[in-house]
Amino acid sequence: MNRLLLSVLALIALSVCCEGHSDIDLPSGKIINGMPATIEQHPYQVSVQTLLGPHFCGGALIKENFVLTAAHCVEGRSALELKVRLGSTSWAYGGKVVLVKSINVPNDYNSDTLDSDVAVLKLIFPVILTSKIRTIELAVSEPVAGTNAVVTGWGNTVENVPSGSLNLQAVEVPIVDRADCGTSYNPFRSITERMMCAGTAGRDACQGDSGGPLVANGQLVGVVSWGYGCARPNYPGVYSSVPALRSYITQVTGL
Ligand code: ARG
Repeated sequence: MNRLLLSVLALIALSVCCEGHSDIDLPSGKIINGMPATIEQHPYQVSVQTLLGPHFCGGALIKENFVLTAAHCVEGRSALELKVRLGSTSWAYGGKVVLVKSINVPNDYNSDTLDSDVAVLKLIFPVILTSKIRTIELAVSEPVAGTNAVVTGWGNTVENVPSGSLNLQAVEVPIVDRADCGTSYNPFRSITERMMCAGTAGRDACQGDSGGPLVANGQLVGVVSWGYGCARPNYPGVYSSVPALRSYITQVTGL
């Protein structure tokens, strides 16, 4: 293998993953190009936080006592050190804060490939649903390519810059055909059957949005998982596919 290919591989490996990661310095796209949103518009959105610390990942309320997030968000963490904030447009104050009782991750979650990147957090008690705290239904099938979906979160608004937003942001992103997405990421990463892609140049999720919801037709279709940088042309955001992982999620939650 030649050196150039090796260094490109290394750069990609460095930049595809995860929160807290320092990305390489390449042109930035600028929830990139989103709009401020309110929790009433996305009442299923939650912020996953450490007990004393700030927001670090998003999540979605799928049952009164269960939150769906990304497995890579909670890897190496114990339920005891987590809390979620629900029902607030700001991740930092307001709404309700609930502790986490247990973390459930599918056996086939792979932290290298990010295959099956979902985690189901069981809350210590069921929350009371209001206009700001609502569950979202799990999609049964993946929307066809071109369908508009919306991704929300408090993550970075500029790639490579700690630019997380205090106010929830939302951006509309088109679902991208899985095979086309696979071609974009080939040969560096593979897009498995448990992944879905969405986004277009300039519109994407970014660091800090992980675990958050991708919603189409009022249903939860994806969980923010990874991407090459953020909002770069030809590199859509990659999501864990809720339809593909549905049976695991329903088994844990009894949904
Ligand atoms: N892994 C990132 C996180 O932990 C999410 C990256 C999503 N990137 C993207 N381009 N859609 O917050």
